[in-house]
Amino acid sequence: MTEPINIKELTKAQARQELAQLAGILARANSAYHGADAPEMSDADYDQLKRRNAGIEAHFPDLKRPDSPSEQVGSRAQDGFSKVPHAVRMLSLGNAFEDADVGAFDTSIRKFLGLDAKASLQYTAEPKIDGLSLSICYEHGQLVQAATRGDGAVGENVTANARTIRDIPQVLENAPAVLEVRGEVYMSHADFTALNKAQIKAGNKPFANPRNAAAGSLRQLDATITRARPLRFFAYAWGEISEPIAQTQLKAIDRLAALGFCVNPLTALCDGPDQMIAHYRGIEARRATLGYDIDGVVYKVNDLALQERLGFRSTTPRWAIAHKFPAELAWTRLESIDIQVGRTGALSPVARLAPVTVGGVVVSNATLHNEDYITGRDATGTTIRDGKDIRVGDWVQVYRAGDVIPKIADVDMGKRPDSAVPYVFPKICPKCQSDAIREEGDAVRRCSGGMICPAQAVEKLKHFVSRGAFDIDGLGAKQVEQFYKDDWISEPADIFTLKDRFATGLQQLKNREGWGDKSALNLFDAIDDKRRIPLGRLIFALGIRHVGEAGSNMLALHYGTWLAFVAAMPKATGEGAQWEELIGIDGVGAVMATSLVTAFAQENERASINRLVEHLQIEAAQRPDTDGSPVAGKTVVFTGTLEKMSRAEAKARAESLGAKVSGSVSAKTDLLVAGPGAGSKAKKARELGIETLDEDGWLALIGAT
Ligand code: IVH
Repeated sequence: MTEPINIKELTKAQARQELAQLAGILARANSAYHGADAPEMSDADYDQLKRRNAGIEAHFPDLKRPDSPSEQVGSRAQDGFSKVPHAVRMLSLGNAFEDADVGAFDTSIRKFLGLDAKASLQYTAEPKIDGLSLSICYEHGQLVQAATRGDGAVGENVTANARTIRDIPQVLENAPAVLEVRGEVYMSHADFTALNKAQIKAGNKPFANPRNAAAGSLRQLDATITRARPLRFFAYAWGEISEPIAQTQLKAIDRLAALGFCVNPLTALCDGPDQMIAHYRGIEARRATLGYDIDGVVYKVNDLALQERLGFRSTTPRWAIAHKFPAELAWTRLESIDIQVGRTGALSPVARLAPVTVGGVVVSNATLHNEDYITGRDATGTTIRDGKDIRVGDWVQVYRAGDVIPKIADVDMGKRPDSAVPYVFPKICPKCQSDAIREEGDAVRRCSGGMICPAQAVEKLKHFVSRGAFDIDGLGAKQVEQFYKDDWISEPADIFTLKDRFATGLQQLKNREGWGDKSALNLFDAIDDKRRIPLGRLIFALGIRHVGEAGSNMLALHYGTWLAFVAAMPKATGEGAQWEELIGIDGVGAVMATSLVTAFAQENERASINRLVEHLQIEAAQRPDTDGSPVAGKTVVFTGTLEKMSRAEAKARAESLGAKVSGSVSAKTDLLVAGPGAGSKAKKARELGIETLDEDGWLALIGAT
């Protein structure tokens, strides 16, 4: 080892680089020490490096790393994984199920980009690995952090575990200064079978499938367990990078391979839907002999500049899609039908089945959707299963596709017992005995009990603490049920007064099974942590019907602050400027808008929300990096024909620059972009004195000429 530079003489760049190296070396030494019989490094050397690290950190406090060795006590089990934000969100993929969906994908991309049907447009096609995604960050070629996808914005820090995976290089040569590699952690069939044998032999529960085994192995608090599990990794994407790694998807994958990553050998370049589907069939034919699970084929636009233009919807890229393999099937007996009551009061029938293996997973429940589905009709009233109804005692064919809840595809009428009678759907709520009402045009029957219905109240609370919502560590579905049953919490606001009500005594919580001093205090801390909450999460957490995670984020981005959001809720549906503004938001349709209006008009609901927000500091929603954008915060309306880009691209572009794009002109409009053929909107803008630009003027304004 060369004599280290005196800490006081280090430049900032040198310090940053050395901290990255030290984080890598110390973490490796840690897992070697705890994981193997032969430690790599003497205790004295180890301590010296740790002191050097602490010394540099003391001198350059702002360079202290999120995975700083000073914060780590060996690699022994911790309470849980620390959370790490993803610099670039980790998204999921839209799905295609049929060949026609692949054609539609290509058509929608051409439309967005304004390409005609003859223009060349290439795609890559590669297997969709059925594992779990992982992000691995390298700085100056050193592996510094690995994280699971988590909710896409924040993942779990599994760095110590990822270092034990042999497919994952610890050091890269000739890599960009910052390179975040993404891909899938998975387990091969052979390794899975051997692992399960060992699990059974050791008296442990076997894993249901290779994916669960991979997930369970990666998410071990003790990295020595992960080390003993045969995990593999395929790289297929990237996140944060300090410089472009290629100009096409295919070349980027080649680059990852050259850096030492395993990339999937079945990746091909295709000229259009016909070749994509042909490659899909080829991969499907080889599926059984690959030796690892795949659940479809992923198509990606090959040209990275086009990927960039296409950008993202709220949770999926426009430039990629997953073409799923058909679902797997099995026959079994329907033993009973249960009715569950959801947070919006929906009565959902659930089939309890004699357990059966479908595609490697044991299935004992399937959804029956609603009463029409049981009688043999789908949501549009069309006959399904040739009109065969479903009865308790029937032999039913179950299918599952990927992660979705299993469904019932068919009924074997030849095996129907003579005693089987048509199922009678309950007209009163089985949980609170209120009337269960089915409104005109709604396939779902709903409990009318509102918050007096214990099932609705509990489901609302469970939703409130769930992952995309408040995500309170230590307060999951089980604890919520327990607390609700004992009258400790009956609405979300009560969660935030738990500490005042119980902290001093603590005794009551500690007396409960599964709670001690530490877990009780941890719970109060975890609750305190969430008193500060981003606006989008809060809106989602309210559990308003039809207002999902994506919709909530759209609302948050549009209105910015809680006060603005609440003040802007229309008093009635279907009219007025507030209504127009609401339904003009991308992703908010009349259905979601009506649901919001109804929720905010209900006095009880409003009072409950008001009680909740008293305990919170609500973070305003921030549009991504639109500093210096001339249109940030402005409301823009496009009308007429655009010639340089499609309407969809113009809208996506404006939004990425921080503008709100609305469908109609009102006093709130800041700018109208009018192409040829603009009609009533241009007229209205003139009347209201709103600035109007043509397409070239708009492109000049946003600096895109
Ligand atoms: S690309 C922006 N390629 O599928 C999306 N994903 O359903 C980038 N997955 O979260 C993902 N194999 O975990 C991509 N060849 C592949 C994949 C793949 C499996 C997973 C990934 C992702 C999920 C989306």
